Amino acid sequence: MSNRKRWIVPAGVTPTELDEKMLFYQEHGHLVPTREMIKTPEQIEGIRMSGVINTGVLDAVAAEIHEGMTTAEIDRIVYEYTMDHGATPATLNYEGFPKSVCTSINEVVCHGIPSEDEYLEDGDIVNVDVSTIFHGYYSDASRMFMIGNVKPKIKKLVEVTKECLNLGAAAAHPFGHLGDIGHAIQTHAEKNRFSVVRDFAGHGVGLEFHEDPIVDHYGQRGRGMMIVPGMVFTIEPMINMGVPDVFIDEEDGWTVVTEDEKPSAQWEHTFVVTDNGLEILTY
Ligand code: MF3
Ligand code: CO
Repeated sequence: MSNRKRWIVPAGVTPTELDEKMLFYQEHGHLVPTREMIKTPEQIEGIRMSGVINTGVLDAVAAEIHEGMTTAEIDRIVYEYTMDHGATPATLNYEGFPKSVCTSINEVVCHGIPSEDEYLEDGDIVNVDVSTIFHGYYSDASRMFMIGNVKPKIKKLVEVTKECLNLGAAAAHPFGHLGDIGHAIQTHAEKNRFSVVRDFAGHGVGLEFHEDPIVDHYGQRGRGMMIVPGMVFTIEPMINMGVPDVFIDEEDGWTVVTEDEKPSAQWEHTFVVTDNGLEILTY
């Protein structure tokens, strides 16, 4: 308990109704967020504007993606659209990541690096993960694209993964818990005999690229941190056809691949917690 971050009302600040509520929950043993995890209405509007551009980027990719193109071409579309709108791709030079977007094909789970020698082929599934900085505000979302004729079972993986994101978001309620989200995702994935990647998670986002809290895509109802209005975080389930285990490519230090080299899918949105549930900021 001593080590845990707490909800602290700064000295001299008159506690709000939310402060009183969170202090009460905290005293009764709930794992609550810190006060800093709650965004102001102004910050939320900034993240929302970043999200509008981020969605525009993904729409631009959707309009142009096709069999036979390289992932480097996707990177150029992302870079140009983003810069044309006065924004910056958040991944570019982020901890040394060299490109403006992550492109993850088939057995690549996430963090694939666009390349001039990587072509989209008939039957491929590709995740395009876009994150944008606009006026200092961050947003983050990804979609799957199916190239040509995708095998029915792989198509099913893509669809179930999208359902996992939607069900996870629908399970989130103000003053519920992050475990409600993970539980909904895990239940749906495993019901369909797929597995949930545990080594990567959703995350707080907005003032930085990756903030607290960690949003796991597995878990138990009623467990984990309380979900509180004003929190902004991603949900981005990575669902595998085979085993949940992954490894990182040693050569580039980034590309995350399934241990059994079976396909993996991912969908992601940035959400804000409102008084009614989650609102998507990356539509
Ligand atoms: N958009 C990814 C995420 O959801 C970005 C990972 S950081 C990168 O967090 F550098 F690998 F791109
Ligand atoms: Co993310």
